[in-house]
Amino acid sequence: MKVLVVGSGGREHALVWKIVQSKLADTCFCAPGNGGIAQVATCVSLRAEDTAGLLTFAKKEKIDLTIIGPEAPLAAGIVDEFTKAGLAIFGPSQRAAQLEASKVFAKELMARHNIPTARFRVFNNATNARQYIETITMPCVIKADGLAAGKGVVIAQSRDQALEAVAQMMEGKVFGAAGERIIIEECLKGEEASIIVLVDANTIIPLASSQDHKRVFDEDRGPNTGGMGAYSPAPLVDEKLFAQIRSTIIEPTVKGLREEGITYRGALYAGIMITSEGPKVLEYNVRFGDPETQAILPRLKSDLLEVLYAASNDNLKNFLKTGLSWETRACVCVVCTSKGYPGNYEKGKEISGLKDCVKMKDVVVFHAGTKKEGEKHLTCGGRVLGVTGLGVSIAKAIDTTYRAVAKIKFDGMHYRTDIGKKALQILK
Ligand code: AMP
Ligand code: GLY
Repeated sequence: MKVLVVGSGGREHALVWKIVQSKLADTCFCAPGNGGIAQVATCVSLRAEDTAGLLTFAKKEKIDLTIIGPEAPLAAGIVDEFTKAGLAIFGPSQRAAQLEASKVFAKELMARHNIPTARFRVFNNATNARQYIETITMPCVIKADGLAAGKGVVIAQSRDQALEAVAQMMEGKVFGAAGERIIIEECLKGEEASIIVLVDANTIIPLASSQDHKRVFDEDRGPNTGGMGAYSPAPLVDEKLFAQIRSTIIEPTVKGLREEGITYRGALYAGIMITSEGPKVLEYNVRFGDPETQAILPRLKSDLLEVLYAASNDNLKNFLKTGLSWETRACVCVVCTSKGYPGNYEKGKEISGLKDCVKMKDVVVFHAGTKKEGEKHLTCGGRVLGVTGLGVSIAKAIDTTYRAVAKIKFDGMHYRTDIGKKALQILK
């Protein structure tokens, strides 16, 4: 098969890394890819948002399956365009992608179908939002409706912070049109977990559980990022809890969409808070998580390409009996970032130590913001690398991963030193 992966981050490197191991894969392209992806696939200089360019390329190359990594092309309707042209593609349609592209759409869907989530109100006017804030207890959570690269959520500890967030989103327009509507919701307490499932018109097949680390500094301090590291499995999510998440959240979401005329196909990601009242949805993503994918795929023994192709053709039922096959070992991914991230960050720094990591057993380094210049790898993004290690336990995986991280150096490199620590506390 000829495969095209769309995107340029660590998630896409992990997808490409796994796909090229498939017995079905003949050629793998990635648009636009990055310095690490270029070592295992052919990078094509088309932006992930260039739907027309990608469609022309896929037709010309007779691509058998296109796999979309990031949310922006999904929200822009790339799947609808490819499907119209008769090309197989993995990902949800534009209407289904609203689950991530509009938090108001997602919350209202949950309300209509009794899917547990934080209590919320929607506002399209700053005055009404301010009046409402005067009436509720703090902390509260303020969310921009639209896509904001993971930055559109503010946990306000005080009324002043809540009012400031409203002013920034609705009047300062820091997220542009994404902040024209906002949600003010109850702040949930508990532990978080990410549940990602593969969905087609008839079947849901779960991936292994995982847990992201959103804040930039150790002990969950500092601003939110795209994700600073992940581990899989999440020990919190045992079989019983998973069954509850499946029956109260995942299945009603897919069924609810279907009842409203939307068939979901693709990866569906539910960010979940395990509260004292049970699991509740924090957010949906309509794609694989980044960096969760980097911690999940090294544990997957099944052929990813075979499964994703089946999902694009409504044949996931072929995997119902057996499910997917997983390593019992745990996996940890530590993200190395550029100085300044998640704000403005430095670029163009030379990365050393990558070759030493290649020699390490049970270690793989996924590239996110890198580019190759001759033999050198240079930084060119906020999240630069996802250093990933397997181990017989989370503790062993943490150990392996940080031994690899210690070999990597670039000017201004930052990473959290406590990825996976929460899992150890839960296991205690
Ligand atoms: P989201 O983009 O909606 O996942 O929000 C980013 C992060 O904000 C989540 O991973 C949570 O850590 C936090 N968050 C979002 N909504 C809530 C909520 N209602 N209560 C507590 N934390 C939240
Ligand atoms: N790791 C969270 C996300 O992919 O949005």
